[in-house]
Amino acid sequence: MVAYLDYAATAPMHPAAKAALVAAVDQIGNPGSIHTHGQHARRALERARASIAASLGAEPVETILTSGGTESDNTAIQGLWHARNRDAERPRIITTAIEHNAVLDTVAWMRDHHGAEVVIVPVDTTGVIDLDALERELDDRTALVAMLHVNNEIGTVQPVRSVAKLANAAGVPVHIDAVASYGSLPVSLHEWGVTSVAVSAHKVGGPVGIGALALRRGTKLDPLIHGGGQQYGLRSGTQNMAGAVAFGAVAELIADEQWLAEHAARVRERRDRMIEIVRQAVPDATLTGADPDALLNDSGVEVPARVPGNAHFLFPGCQGDSLVYLLDMAGVSVSTGSACHAGIPEASHAVIGCGYQNEQALGALRMTVGEQTSDDELETFAKVLPEAYERARKAGFSYREV
Ligand SMILES: Cc1ncc(COP(=O)(O)O)c(C=O)c1O
Repeated sequence: MVAYLDYAATAPMHPAAKAALVAAVDQIGNPGSIHTHGQHARRALERARASIAASLGAEPVETILTSGGTESDNTAIQGLWHARNRDAERPRIITTAIEHNAVLDTVAWMRDHHGAEVVIVPVDTTGVIDLDALERELDDRTALVAMLHVNNEIGTVQPVRSVAKLANAAGVPVHIDAVASYGSLPVSLHEWGVTSVAVSAHKVGGPVGIGALALRRGTKLDPLIHGGGQQYGLRSGTQNMAGAVAFGAVAELIADEQWLAEHAARVRERRDRMIEIVRQAVPDATLTGADPDALLNDSGVEVPARVPGNAHFLFPGCQGDSLVYLLDMAGVSVSTGSACHAGIPEASHAVIGCGYQNEQALGALRMTVGEQTSDDELETFAKVLPEAYERARKAGFSYREV
C-alpha cells in the first residue's frame, strides 16, 4: 500500500473537475472571438468565473484568472506597488518572515530592481503576526501589506480581518495569499475587507496551471502581463476556458458553506489521526504552529487557528530530508516543506521565523491530507514511521546554515 500525504504540494484531481475538464477540452473556440464558437466558449468561461468569484466572496468582475498562485501573488504585489508609486512616493512593502516564496521573492525582487523598502513584521512562536508591530509600521509611505492567510508549511491561520482593519484605517491596501487555506476554510475578499486574494486550482482538486486573483473593484493596479487586453487589460492572454471550467466545478462546491464545513470536518478527522500516529511513534516530536483545537479571534470572529489538513512536526535528532527519502522508499509521500539547494538541505525560513533553532528546524516534516486520504494510507504511514525515524536518526545531519 502506498500513501500520498502531500496534499499541500498538489491535491489529486476532484472527479467533478476531471469530468468538466474532459468535456471542455473538446469545445472549440477562443472566448475572445465574436463568432458562435467563440461565444459558446465565452459563456462557459463566464459561468466558471461566476463560481470562482462566489467561492472568493467577490464579484465576477473582480475575479481575474491567472496561471496559478505564483502569478496571482506577482500580479498583486508588483501591480499594486507600481500603481501606488505613480503619484506619490510609497516604497514600503510590509510582510512577514514566514511567507511563501511567491510573496517573499517577489517582494525581494521589488527591493532589488525597483527600490522597494521591505518591512518584516514579527510573528510569534506559532506563526501569528504581531498586530501591534504591524500597526506601528503602517504609514503613508507604505504601498501595501502582502501576507499569507495560512502558512503552507506550519498551517497557522492569520487574523486577516484584523490586519485589514488596521491597514484600511491607514489607507494601505492588503494582498492576501490564500493558496493554503482555500478549499478548507472560508475565503472572502469582501468579508475580510482586503484589496486582493490569491488562490490556485491545483491545491483544491482543480488542474495545474490555473488560479485566480480576486481584486476589489476600482483598485488601481499595473498589469504584469501585456498583450491583447483580455480581462480588462489586467491580464492579457487567451483565457484558459477548459482550465477555468474545471476549476469552476470545484469552486462551486467550495462556495457552498455547508459543503465546505463538512469537507473541513472530514479532512480534520484524518489530520487528527495523523497527529496521533506521529505522537505514538515519536513522543518527543514537536508539533509546530497552532494547537489543532485552538480558535483564533479575528476581530470578533472565531476561526480555527490551524488549517484542517496540516500536521507539521519537528523530529528530534534527525533531518526531515532523510525522513522524506526513507518514507518514500516505504511508499509514503510527505514533504519537508522547505527548499533543498544543490542537494544540501536548508532549514525552512518559516520554521526559523517562528524562533526555532537551525538544528531543530532541520527535523521538519509536513504531512498534509485531504478528503480522499484513506484509512489504509494512514495505517501504512503508522506502520513505516517508527523504522524510518530510527534510520533517519542514525543517518545524522548534513546541512548548511541559513
Ligand atoms: C501559500 C502558497 N502560495 C503560493 C503558491 C504557489 O502556487 P502555484 O503553484 O499555483 O503557483 C503555493 C504553492 O505551493 C503556496 O503554498
